Amino acid sequence: MTKTLNIAHRGANAEAPENTLAAFRKAVEIGADGFEFDLQLSRDNVPVVIHDEMLERTTNGNGLVKDYTLDELKAFDAGSWFSPEFAGETIPTLEEVFEEFAQSEALFNIELKSGIIIYPELEEKVLKIISRFKVKERVLISSFNHYSLVTCLQIDPEVRTGILYMAGLYEPWNYAKSLGCYSAHPLFYHLQHPEIVSGFKEHSIPVFAWTVNDPLYMKMMVAGGIEGIITDNPRELKKIIGKTSE
Ligand code: G3P
Ligand code: MG
Repeated sequence: MTKTLNIAHRGANAEAPENTLAAFRKAVEIGADGFEFDLQLSRDNVPVVIHDEMLERTTNGNGLVKDYTLDELKAFDAGSWFSPEFAGETIPTLEEVFEEFAQSEALFNIELKSGIIIYPELEEKVLKIISRFKVKERVLISSFNHYSLVTCLQIDPEVRTGILYMAGLYEPWNYAKSLGCYSAHPLFYHLQHPEIVSGFKEHSIPVFAWTVNDPLYMKMMVAGGIEGIITDNPRELKKIIGKTSE
């Protein structure tokens, strides 16, 4: 039976500020198999790790990420909003993530936030960095913007990509395959139809459900043998996966 992977959503975001190196360290320390994080592009075209297009929620900056150079973005504090203990955390670059974690065993689920703002160079920049750090086998690129995924596959047909979606798509494995994508990343409610998990299995499309925080749903999905769960609570999921595989 498939052992479900434990993927910490935006890092271990309940224990450290989301999408920071501290949150990724925490995820690894907890024993998650990997972590998910979100990428936007700075004004000088550097992929940076932050969920929102705007700076306000998770930093002490204002306005759009895309309007600042990397040097300017690095001056913002990305930790104090969460707790004073994390003052001094900054918005990481993709390179910094790989510099610290390329030697670990962590899987990297990289979400391209190219849905609201179109970043013409995002896919190319990201793939170049992945290639430079030689981490392609441990990377899974996802996006709600499926054009971005196709662009990635045009640049590198071997990179693993996953369709993110939040709708009751009909036979989504056919759609994923039509794009050449490796996996499907549904909002977890959309796995409830009885045919869905078995359909994915029959068509060899791995499923990574998000964002699963309720232990009851975690147990159901682990029992259903899906390939990955993206969660805000990797500590709880670790216990559940541990018990199931005993
Ligand atoms: O990749 C799953 C999840 O991260 C998608 O939603 O808004 O948390 O990036 P969001
Ligand atoms: Mg995300």
